Amino acid sequence: MVLNHVIESQQFTPELLFELFKRADKLRLKSDSCLKGKILVTLFYEPSTRTRMSFESAMLKLGGSVVSTENAKEFSSAIKGESLSDTIRIVGAYCNCVVMRHYETGAALEASKVSKVPIINAGDGKGQHPTQALLDVYTIYREFGRLDNLKIAMVGDLASGRTVRSLCYLLAKFSGNTIIFVSPENLRMGEDIKDHLNKKGVKFREEVGLDKILPEADIIYMTRIQKERISIQDYKKAKGKYVIDSKTINLIRPDARIMHPLPHVEEIDLSLETEENDKRVAYFRQAENGLYIRMALLDMILNKESCFS
Ligand code: CP
Repeated sequence: MVLNHVIESQQFTPELLFELFKRADKLRLKSDSCLKGKILVTLFYEPSTRTRMSFESAMLKLGGSVVSTENAKEFSSAIKGESLSDTIRIVGAYCNCVVMRHYETGAALEASKVSKVPIINAGDGKGQHPTQALLDVYTIYREFGRLDNLKIAMVGDLASGRTVRSLCYLLAKFSGNTIIFVSPENLRMGEDIKDHLNKKGVKFREEVGLDKILPEADIIYMTRIQKERISIQDYKKAKGKYVIDSKTINLIRPDARIMHPLPHVEEIDLSLETEENDKRVAYFRQAENGLYIRMALLDMILNKESCFS
């Protein structure tokens, strides 16, 4: 299967997803030096812990090398006024693939138009975060053994959340899923996503309260209120509205899972003991899955022979 630029989650067919899961499962058990001699550039104009480090670890574990700028806004020539398009054309001469995070929606798509090497979108403003959605569905598949007939509550700042947007596109590819959007009125899921779900016949509804939906959801996908992307008025209205703590966790079914793209702040307030021992807490397993899914993705994009051929 040919995969070049990864810009939005809609690119992934169910067949491609399951191929990726298969490779991730194998790479979890045994690493391989199949990307020896290849170079990955990570070009991040916004902060990151998981995405950048897991991509870099993934490349190193596959025998490749990494060239990185973790604060491209200040420490690349962007600060001197260089355009993104010029940066991409230059960087493409130094590497085999660019993983890029940018504060502007659509930046990854623009970069892909001038790039000679594959561009992987590691988050573009309020747009998409496709590789997060890949690790999310991989986690769901590992936890539930299926990607259909699930009830998923997406909770928090759905207006700014690029992870939930990318996840909706993937969940819409499987039958029988129901999505419950739980957000304050001022931070609702975008109309473009709701239109897409309607077009695909995916059932969804919008709620403002969290407690009443907790007993019915298979997956509670919590998200952070993104202070950096919204007005201070919107932030104050939403802050502390949705919290999973020692009280609200009792409303969640024993077979359900709590997911979160992380980082979490006050919307998760559980003890270390609960986070380590309660099977419903899936977000640390989810973050670890990111390493294997990104190894599989790099293998798929950069390795014509594949680690497993
Ligand atoms: N989930 C996620 O994108 O985390 P980072 O911002 O730490 O990369």
